[in-house]
Amino acid sequence: MRVGITYDLRSWYIDRGYSMEDTAEFDKQETIDAIDNALVRMGFETEQIGNCFQLMSALSSDKRWDLVFNIAEGLYGDGRESVVPALLDQYRIPYVFSGPVVLGVSLNKYLSRLIVSAAGVPVSPGMLVSCLDDIKKCNLQFPLFIKPVSEGTGKGITEKSLVRSWKELRERAGFVLSRFNQPALVEEYLPGKEFTVGVIGSGSKAVAIGGMEIECRDNLPYSVETKENYQIFCKYTPLEGVYEEECKTLALSAWNAIGGVDGGRVDLRVDVNGKMCFIEVNPLAGLHPVHSDLPILANMNGINFQSLIEMIMRSALERNNLKLPAPIT
Ligand SMILES: Nc1ncnc2c1ncn2[C@@H]1O[C@H](COP(=O)(O)OP(=O)(O)OP(=O)(O)O)[C@@H](O)[C@H]1O
Ligand SMILES: [Mg+2]
Repeated sequence: MRVGITYDLRSWYIDRGYSMEDTAEFDKQETIDAIDNALVRMGFETEQIGNCFQLMSALSSDKRWDLVFNIAEGLYGDGRESVVPALLDQYRIPYVFSGPVVLGVSLNKYLSRLIVSAAGVPVSPGMLVSCLDDIKKCNLQFPLFIKPVSEGTGKGITEKSLVRSWKELRERAGFVLSRFNQPALVEEYLPGKEFTVGVIGSGSKAVAIGGMEIECRDNLPYSVETKENYQIFCKYTPLEGVYEEECKTLALSAWNAIGGVDGGRVDLRVDVNGKMCFIEVNPLAGLHPVHSDLPILANMNGINFQSLIEMIMRSALERNNLKLPAPIT
């Protein structure tokens, strides 16, 4: 079976003059190679297709695959993660991970909060600030936390995201609006423990495989800087004990409410009263075999990278009525 891999390679864009910030969510060649190797070990014939531009060119040259393993984050706009799956849908090529609507809605943290809270998953009280005038309607309890509504990998998140006064709120909202050219999501600050939970599968077959607690030095947020230097700034501990059941149940509820498939992560944090709240869902979770949260937490829970990719693939194959290749004899 021919499996194509779609991805945004950071160096491809850097070579073409894109900035480090524009490409912060993009992957390294070693991530693509690790996925490719895992697929080959499962018996698939693979092809590294590349990003949406390279996919469009391959499709116009009549290339086709039985399945595409898609981790392309996309470049611009709030539908950027949806471009590759939407294109593949038009060619009726099945793919691993969620479709365009789930990816679009999950990238927008305001919309995903609405969906999961309607399913009973607690969220921190929050509001959307689309222009500075919206701040006048804010009746949230300080301290607050502000982030761009549709970014990932901790973009736009620094220690200044935590605001304690109206002045700081106005300044930071102004920064997010102008710097990221999109609304700011303002939430009541969640001061408690933070967890990220891995989910594999879809619908009634989805399983929370485990999670980890994330503690950042000096109470820093888990931002692009802390993530990139996690060995210095962060401590990861396997999710176990009193929080385990609650985290897994909430992660699964959020995952199913949003309609995630095959695999991903749900981020959670405890509020001022000890209640576990949803932060966001990641249906395209990072897959660097050593440095990304999902492989790290999977490993902590006895699932190595190969097994993780196999579990994700089994879910995608089953959803698409496809079969595993026969073992190589
Ligand atoms: N309401 C909040 N209260 C306290 N901390 C928060 C809140 N929202 C976000 N954070 C902090 O900011 C970090 C990044 O937030 P979030 O997960 O929404 O961003 P992201 O860029 O999409 O992350 P990812 O890299 O997981 O895609 C969280 O892991 C957490 O440390
Ligand atoms: Mg997150």
